Amino acid sequence: MPDTAAPAAALLAQLADIVGPAGLLTDPADTAPYAEDWRRLYHGRTGAVVRPASTAQLAAVVAACAAARVALVPQGGNTSMVGGAVPAEDGSELVLSLSRMNRVRAVDAVDQTLTIEAGATLKAAQDAAEAAGCLLPLSIGSEGTAQVGGILSTNAGGNNTVRYGNARDLVLGLEVVLPDGQVWNGLRRLRKDNTGYCLRQLFVGAEGTLGVIAAAVLKLVPRPAQSEVALCAVASPEAALALFTRFHRHDPASVNAFEYMSGLGMDFVLKHIPGAVLPLAARAEHYALIDLATPRPGADLRAMLEAVLEAALEAGEMADAVVAESAAQRAAIWRLREEHSEAQKREGASIKNDVSVPVSRVPELIRRATAACEALLPGIRVVPFGHMGDGNIHFNLEQPVDMAASAFLARDHAIMDTVCAVVRDLDGSFSAEHGVGKLKPYMMPDWRGGAELALMRAIKRAIDPAGLMNPGKVLP
Ligand code: MLT
Ligand code: ZN
Repeated sequence: MPDTAAPAAALLAQLADIVGPAGLLTDPADTAPYAEDWRRLYHGRTGAVVRPASTAQLAAVVAACAAARVALVPQGGNTSMVGGAVPAEDGSELVLSLSRMNRVRAVDAVDQTLTIEAGATLKAAQDAAEAAGCLLPLSIGSEGTAQVGGILSTNAGGNNTVRYGNARDLVLGLEVVLPDGQVWNGLRRLRKDNTGYCLRQLFVGAEGTLGVIAAAVLKLVPRPAQSEVALCAVASPEAALALFTRFHRHDPASVNAFEYMSGLGMDFVLKHIPGAVLPLAARAEHYALIDLATPRPGADLRAMLEAVLEAALEAGEMADAVVAESAAQRAAIWRLREEHSEAQKREGASIKNDVSVPVSRVPELIRRATAACEALLPGIRVVPFGHMGDGNIHFNLEQPVDMAASAFLARDHAIMDTVCAVVRDLDGSFSAEHGVGKLKPYMMPDWRGGAELALMRAIKRAIDPAGLMNPGKVLP
């Protein structure tokens, strides 16, 4: 296909001047990986990937592109599940990679804050916190690749939302490059600051449609002194919820994560992930992973875990459990959960439904959406799993064994709409933690129409009147 919308040579020369030779990729072999998502569902094209190394360079790049009226797609680790960082297919948009802006600017163990640039990976941010004796309480499967800017732009949730909230709850300050190239320095690290509209929260979750997050001040917490992880075989989603409620009532401050997995999802992990072993005596139809932690050195977390599990066993909420005896075993149990997405990818084509409902309605969601999908497409393999403790289930669906992947994927809207009809009935949301990206803007009028979508459009017009920031994402 001819590159009808390639960026002008003059703009590329200007960008090369700003970022230097290491900062500009134009060879299609170099730019190709930045133009598709990791699931290979979206295939865009781009004339260049611009990689600024500082906020000043970033601001100059954005200003030059604004003057040339060329649209930008900000990109972090490119781990979006909804195509949020893929450029358009016509090659007209440039990718703005933040990966060279990856410095830790400051860690303060008294203020419990970390000031870090957008292109640092979440893992690097966690390590910086740990080196200062603190914990950055945000954890997701892709943390080795996903970057702070992307995490904030998508308001990532992950495993610890039940205890610490989502990414937005951890942000005290931001440095943002606005669509015209101005820098807003809002890198404050105050716990209280009531001075008008909370602008930073506009950029968190905006998926790069309002500007580019350049750096952030994140909240830290004390590092845990003790932690415990258990994997339980449970008879039903209802039993898993009862187990969660039991732990949460006992000590909400120690429940770091409570994850649900289905028998089939675990089967896929055991089949496809090298080294994965089920540490329980027998396969179960449903599993729960409990992660407890406390910063109190004297607290006997193990005794508490065992007492609550004992009571759950007596109450019939749980059939069997294994408690990790070492850090290696804790990691091995977590790996069974974290590899769910990868195992599903290896099993075949899958359609993701990152949805949330009130926690109390998770079992009903699993039952009703399972029945609805099986009625829609006999043979479909239902693989619900995820963050039961915060009501966010990944209601993922794997292609029937005897159906072509392309034929299955062609039915994605019908399948997503079937799940979403149940979610709506249960007062839930069509996107819990992955965002809207390119996959779900079509759902926005139906779910967020009226005053809500009108307000979002007004905000977009006010901040990005030329529509140059991540076009085609979030807003239909
Ligand atoms: C996860 O929690 O592992 C991901 O957000 C889920 C997914 O792949 O849908
Ligand atoms: Zn998740």
